[in-house]
Amino acid sequence: MTRLPDFRLETYFSRWEFTARHHMTASDVQTMTLTELLALADDQDRTAFENLSLGYTDTYGDPALREVIAQMYERADAADVICFAGAEEALYLAMNVLLDAGDHAVVVTPNYQAAETVPLALCEVTGVALDPDRDWALDLDQIKAAIRRNTRLVSVNFPNNPTGKVISTADFIELARLCDEHGIHLFSDEVYRGLERDPARTLPQAADLSERALSLNVTSKSLGLPGLRIGWITCRDRTLLTRLERAKHYTTICNSAPSEVLARIALKARTTILDRNRALIARNLPLFDAFFTEFPDVFDWQAPDGGCVAYPRYLGPEGVEEFCTRLVEEAGVLLLPASIYRSELTPTPTDRFRIGIGRAHPEEGLTALTQWMKAHR
Ligand SMILES: Cc1ncc(COP(=O)(O)O)c(C=O)c1O
Repeated sequence: MTRLPDFRLETYFSRWEFTARHHMTASDVQTMTLTELLALADDQDRTAFENLSLGYTDTYGDPALREVIAQMYERADAADVICFAGAEEALYLAMNVLLDAGDHAVVVTPNYQAAETVPLALCEVTGVALDPDRDWALDLDQIKAAIRRNTRLVSVNFPNNPTGKVISTADFIELARLCDEHGIHLFSDEVYRGLERDPARTLPQAADLSERALSLNVTSKSLGLPGLRIGWITCRDRTLLTRLERAKHYTTICNSAPSEVLARIALKARTTILDRNRALIARNLPLFDAFFTEFPDVFDWQAPDGGCVAYPRYLGPEGVEEFCTRLVEEAGVLLLPASIYRSELTPTPTDRFRIGIGRAHPEEGLTALTQWMKAHR
């Protein structure tokens, strides 16, 4: 296995995710119970779940699941889809299949750490930073300038974790075109797709734009079902898909059979689930607006374009790291400080923290946060 550094976010979560009283930095929307999910199934799928035999399944993923996934794309068939244990396995194996020692990759920052540490363990990588002073704009000229003769991959994530940025559709299409022009794979992490504040800003899926682009998605985030551990890559380059299948033989071999049926049920009901989740975020946002409005000299808050996390600034003199540490230790309120999102590739802001806006009943955590702020500031 490639030697990789500690995954800062996961290490922080190992300490706090299930011990902090108020998890206020979740990147997955409020989940549901098995009973609630099965209530969304038609009779046939519910029977399929109850009578499921628990043998190995197809390495590519259950054909019926891949069929449902393919229907979410304009230009993909079931044969263009391969499933993995979450988005994380997909990302890890895709980088390992696509990148060799003499290659070069371009990665946008800030990012979900694996997006840069996995490629960095394999080859040379150039970072291109979203600009915090220009509403997290992505400068396509910087991507263009970063491309080398041996560049194999450009990796992006919109809606972005942690900034919530969604670039314009025109820019995204131009990015796909630029990658095609240079024979580069666009690796597009689309795990927060479907949670745009303005649905009109929902980007096309990369796999629909280019034959060699990879669209990464999962049931974890927008659908709020991370416990299923079902992710997938859609890509019309079937040779690449075969290489991904061969790589998966060394990791999980196949997905969990019950999860595949449950993911199929969830994806068939995705309009209902996404409507529910978007409504939850719309209901939560005014609560966050009200909290941040109460402390205008301490926070600089902006609602995200999409996804269910935001990345406000902390303006207090002791800095965001101390703020987050004291908050979780003294008030049991878990946030993620900027150091979790530091990059080896570019400077990243040092005064921000990630806060989640997609869980039910954030009032309790916001109250604890407000009380601590009033007592300490
Ligand atoms: C942008 C991004 N990609 C991938 C993942 C990994 O997703 P999963 O937990 O479903 O494997 C995450 C999880 O936080 C993420 O934020």
